Amino acid sequence: VSAKPCNVDDVEALAREKLPQWVYDFIAGGTEDELTLRANRDAFQRLVLLPRVLIDVGHIDTTTDVLGHVLRMPVLLAPAGSQRVMHPEGEIASARSAADFGTVFTLSSTATSSIEEVAEASNGPKWFQLYMIGGRPVAERLVQRAEEAGYQAVCLTVDSARHSKRERDIRNQPPFQAEMAPRNFEGLLDYSQIAHNARVTWEDVDWLCSITSMPIVLKGIVRPDDALRAVEHGIRGIVVSNHGGRQLDGTIATIDALPDIVGAVNGRTEVLLDGGVRRGTDILKALALGAQAVLVGRAYLWGLAAAGQHGVSDVLELLRYELEIAMALAGCPTIADIDASMVRR
Ligand SMILES: Cc1cc2nc3c(=O)[nH]c(=O)nc-3n(C[C@H](O)[C@H](O)[C@H](O)COP(=O)(O)O)c2cc1C
Repeated sequence: VSAKPCNVDDVEALAREKLPQWVYDFIAGGTEDELTLRANRDAFQRLVLLPRVLIDVGHIDTTTDVLGHVLRMPVLLAPAGSQRVMHPEGEIASARSAADFGTVFTLSSTATSSIEEVAEASNGPKWFQLYMIGGRPVAERLVQRAEEAGYQAVCLTVDSARHSKRERDIRNQPPFQAEMAPRNFEGLLDYSQIAHNARVTWEDVDWLCSITSMPIVLKGIVRPDDALRAVEHGIRGIVVSNHGGRQLDGTIATIDALPDIVGAVNGRTEVLLDGGVRRGTDILKALALGAQAVLVGRAYLWGLAAAGQHGVSDVLELLRYELEIAMALAGCPTIADIDASMVRR
């Protein structure tokens, strides 16, 4: 076995060797038949690239901006709870790695480090992911705390009205572990009340807009009409997402949902995408189809599990290296050069 992982799949293999089976399954798994989990990957692999040649690609610039942040590459860290079961430093390690690298870290509502602990540990750009667990009073408190701690956007997850049926987790019956307890709800909700039923409606979206000056990003949209509705409600960004195949199984692959959504919103809100991003070429394909940037979930969680903060950094560097090569070989020296002509479905 080579010491240095060569790609994200190698990092996953390293993580798998280290993790108890139930933690590996918790990260890797999807719901029910895992159709959507596989579809996200398959759909990327079905897209073909049409590289442009004879372009001067001596200097490749992967920087871009998302909601006013300048990012070293168009990749953000997706929200993921429970990170202390993956590595003792949990979300702190991930947030620090994102800051060092030059991208946004999104802290999950169900994180195992609190809003304040993460802000203390990292001064990089941070977004706070909100689940409406415990209703508006709890949500208001969390959002206020995030704003006070310097977070720069609220990412409201809208695809999780009910806890989904994740059969690997049901079979494994994860042991209760104190480090799994979500820290943000301490003093607000009992552990037993934190079922992952995060029902939320368009009325809640308007309410959220009224209580914060942070921009709001809706995560979990796959329909053009919902994207248009987000525009009508003044939303600054959406994440085309099916929760990495962890919510409704059988949902459309995100890269397949993207083009119609980009067409519908027509530049009136920033469109991001997550689900199945593992390669620099995946990032190139998503940008070609109109995404402003992508988020990665499992890719960086494998890095965290394998080697903590350094492991997350390794994954980000791997993705950046692959993206740079892909842009050079496709004839795109800058992010702005990546257009719809680069891919065919
Ligand atoms: C272990 C794990 C935990 C997650 N926790 C959350 C969460 O707390 N909130 C949320 O909005 N999304 C959560 N997600 C979904 C991710 O934000 C993201 O949508 C998904 O991982 C993207 O797919 P990918 O893993 O293929 O990159 C989680 C995903 C994983 C793998």
